Amino acid sequence: KPPLTPYDAIGEKKLHALIDAFYKNVKKHPLLKPIFPEDLTETARKQKQFMTQFLGGPPLYTKEHGHPMLRARHLPFPITPRRAEAWLSCMRKAMDEVGLDGEIREFFYDRLVVTAHHMINSKDEDQ
Ligand code: HEM
Repeated sequence: KPPLTPYDAIGEKKLHALIDAFYKNVKKHPLLKPIFPEDLTETARKQKQFMTQFLGGPPLYTKEHGHPMLRARHLPFPITPRRAEAWLSCMRKAMDEVGLDGEIREFFYDRLVVTAHHMINSKDEDQ
């Protein structure tokens, strides 16, 4: 039997619930709301595909959209250090809300921190 991936350990149902909870938080965040589309249905769908492959599951995102090139895809949006922290805070809250805890949470969250910091492409307004 192949080893369990982080995707298997979390499971599709919980991963999807996490991403739905995450975008509900994004919608309410004053720093994030203005840079996201009003309707987050398609954004959430793509994020479910991306996170699936990010966690070692099937490459759903790449199959439909090609190489993620995440930094390049984020360049149209001003991602400041504060927005990266806001994004991560929405994710921590979502993890609390769906009850994603323990080692798998630490592992997943640490990877998101690295990726979020990599997306920063602008300075905060008052810097
Ligand atoms: C798309 C913001 C970090 C993965 C987007 C979009 C925005 C955004 C505004 C476009 C939404 C749309 O037009 O549908 C941010 C901000 C971040 C951040 C402010 C703070 C650092 C991340 C991280 C990941 C990620 C850490 C992955 C681990 C994605 C993906 C998409 C996306 C997969 C969809 C790309 C596509 O259109 O195909 N993000 N993002 N983002 N983001 Fe982020």
